[in-house]
Amino acid sequence: MTIDISDESYLPTAAKEVLNIAGDQRIWLFEGEMGAGKTTFTKAICAELGVVDEVSSPTFSLINEYETARGETIFHFDFFRIESEMEAENLGLDEYFYSGDLCLIEWPEKIPHLIPDRYLKINIKFIAEKRTIHLTKHGPDKGD
Ligand SMILES: Nc1ncnc2c1ncn2[C@@H]1O[C@H](COP(=O)(O)OP(=O)(O)OP(=O)(O)O)[C@@H](O)[C@H]1O
Ligand SMILES: [Mg+2]
Repeated sequence: MTIDISDESYLPTAAKEVLNIAGDQRIWLFEGEMGAGKTTFTKAICAELGVVDEVSSPTFSLINEYETARGETIFHFDFFRIESEMEAENLGLDEYFYSGDLCLIEWPEKIPHLIPDRYLKINIKFIAEKRTIHLTKHGPDKGD
């Protein structure tokens, strides 16, 4: 499934669509090269969910926590700066990943072995000034 986000005006609609498609998926992997628009799209998702906290890339903190309008928790990760999966293991990621809370994960490629089996992949491509999102569900009982 492919969704257009050619410019900012597409973001709210695209975020709504992804929320609909995601169903009960709680692990969302944001893939795409540097500057593809991963953080920008997490902001759009959080805006749709009524997050009033400031959403920014957890580049240094690795993990941000937000609250939605309905009082639900969102965890936002950015593993770009992680040196090794061993370093990530010390963060106790399972506590977050299996909490049932929505987990938005940038640079999941850095921790391939720590990602749960069941996830929604949001691959953002930025080609010829156009951005598109490619969505795929992975794992058992992926809820297609
Ligand atoms: N859909 C979009 N429409 C227009 N501009 C965008 C869009 N998405 C991102 N941008 C712009 O592209 C730049 C990079 O976006 P962003 O920080 O979201 O990328 P990223 O994939 O998170 O990068 P990184 O790999 O560094 O984390 C920002 O200046 C942002 O405003
Ligand atoms: Mg980012």
